[in-house]
Amino acid sequence: MRVIVVKDYDAMSQEAFRLMKATLTEKKDAVLGLATGSTPIGLYREMIADYRAGGTSYRDVRTFNLDEYVGLDVSSDQSYVYFMRNNLFDHIDVLPENTNIENGKAEDPEAECARYNALLSETEIDLQILGIGSNGHIAFNEPGTPFDSVTHVVALAESTVKDNSRLFKSIDEVPRRAFTMGLANIMAAKKVVILANGANKARAVYGLCRGEITEQLPASILQKHPDCTLICDEAAASLL
Ligand code: GLP
Repeated sequence: MRVIVVKDYDAMSQEAFRLMKATLTEKKDAVLGLATGSTPIGLYREMIADYRAGGTSYRDVRTFNLDEYVGLDVSSDQSYVYFMRNNLFDHIDVLPENTNIENGKAEDPEAECARYNALLSETEIDLQILGIGSNGHIAFNEPGTPFDSVTHVVALAESTVKDNSRLFKSIDEVPRRAFTMGLANIMAAKKVVILANGANKARAVYGLCRGEITEQLPASILQKHPDCTLICDEAAASLL
């Protein structure tokens, strides 16, 4: 794993954008794997600024998001589909029909997982962007998730519900279940860029790149990925 330590959040976002731009320059119809959370927002801002300045077009790009809360759809401003539209899709020229995310309101969650896995098995993600949870989760693959997992429904760890409650009015409003791409789907991406900032990620970042490869720290599987880059700020890198 390549490790790039930068000063702060802005530098992390700029470095991530540099890699994103390189992928898009090489391949106009790249397939992007995208993440939610506060971590990638700076990268998305860089993408929007560059698009507005006449830089990169997303006309031929397809996107796959990692995860979505069960029970929420775009009518909820806490859903990840709302997040993606608000923070990226509505501000660039990507075609809505080329963006993919699990349907949080699907009547049959198992069928929804099968639909998403079928889509993923037909395509190769050129660049997968990831954040990391403070317990080492990636997407919503919580500790204990098998490394060979594909898209499935998970019960969120209590620590994740607590971490994510800052974005809800109260902790009771945080959905307890979510759809998530599995670890095998993520490992199938050609290139992975994982971002981390802030001292609360330092332990997870240590486990990600220096710890034992264990299902107890799902991100540690990335040590086996042939093309994975970690970009983190000094605070997140403090235990390395
Ligand atoms: C959530 C998301 C992850 C994200 C993580 C970190 O649980 N499902 O994809 O990487 O939390 O979030 P943040 O970037 O807000 O710290």
